[in-house]
Amino acid sequence: MMATVQTVGLTKRYQDIVALDGLELEIAAGELVALLGPSGCGKTTTLRMVAGLLSPTAGDILFDGRSVLAIPPERRGAVMVFQKHLLFPHMTIGENIGFGLKMRGVDKATVRRSVAELLKLVQLPGFEGRRPHELSGGQQQRVALARALIVEPKVLLLDEPLTNLDANLRLEMRQLIRTVQQAVGITTIFVTHDQEEAVMLADRIALMDGGRLLQFDRPRTLFERPQNATVARFFRNENLLPGIKRGAQVETAWGTFSISPCNPACNGPVLLTVRPEHLEIGGRHQANGIETTVLQAVYMGAYTQLQVAVGECSWLVQAPANLSIAPGDRISLHLPEARIWCMPV
Ligand SMILES: Nc1ncnc2c1ncn2[C@@H]1O[C@H](COP(=O)(O)OP(=O)(O)OP(=O)(O)O)[C@@H](O)[C@H]1O
Ligand SMILES: [Mg+2]
Repeated sequence: MMATVQTVGLTKRYQDIVALDGLELEIAAGELVALLGPSGCGKTTTLRMVAGLLSPTAGDILFDGRSVLAIPPERRGAVMVFQKHLLFPHMTIGENIGFGLKMRGVDKATVRRSVAELLKLVQLPGFEGRRPHELSGGQQQRVALARALIVEPKVLLLDEPLTNLDANLRLEMRQLIRTVQQAVGITTIFVTHDQEEAVMLADRIALMDGGRLLQFDRPRTLFERPQNATVARFFRNENLLPGIKRGAQVETAWGTFSISPCNPACNGPVLLTVRPEHLEIGGRHQANGIETTVLQAVYMGAYTQLQVAVGECSWLVQAPANLSIAPGDRISLHLPEARIWCMPV
């Protein structure tokens, strides 16, 4: 019942506003993809077009290789769960979840059995008789999920379903969504502007900005191999240094660094980066070492975050929590060859 989902040059314009600009995605059957990006980048627009609630200005959407543009939402096989779980307040939980099946003329006993199974799946067994106002926000969200799944859709679309929940509940719900998604094996597109949430949940992340796709990759790739500075910054890495790459060497204002010969960037101008957690303290006389001045040291519990200066630039370093370092100290940093990543500019 799961489907592959593909968008081809998917575009949405409102007069002179470009909400989505040529989105290209290929999502495998059963995959969970997060659409991640700042407010207004086109996430909801994408989801609504996949659901059939909004027509594209240009481009195509394919399920299992076939265009679904001509298919109305109720027959498309994609269901959407919204940020605000719109449960029918006058119906019981059981009636809310069973609604979609009842509308299709499924017999009462079958509906009742399916409702019970889904309530078990979302960890609310026996909640059939309750009313929406008797449930917590997280419980209502689980009911909304069960209600979407009961019609056995090919594609599940979740638009920031966890935004209204407090931090602990969010964590719990993320786990539940992952468990349910894997149990049902349904192709899922999950919208969020929370980087951590996307990393925890998704097989792959589509990072968007201003209606465009910046990078579509596994979470680890986005962290370790960003395609450009915007992607790096979005994944909390501001340690950037311009340089000129020649083979396995990069010449910069801080000196020349050796990089892995496998680095795919072309020779010429690049941005060199090392994530804060990959910089090593010490190593004055090693290759790839630099001298820095500590500007700030903030104890973060699991580590101490240092802000260090090299010339005009400042970088962040994740240092061991027990290290005693104060602003003004001079420290040497080692940029491990295998941890240096170069992006073309
Ligand atoms: N009906 C509309 N008319 C004009 N512009 C619109 C319309 N709907 C959306 N937009 C614009 O399209 C862009 C993308 O909107 P969209 O709702 O997809 O963003 P989003 O990524 O879901 O943001 P958020 O994280 O805030 O929910 C925004 O700039 C928005 O203002
Ligand atoms: Mg949105």
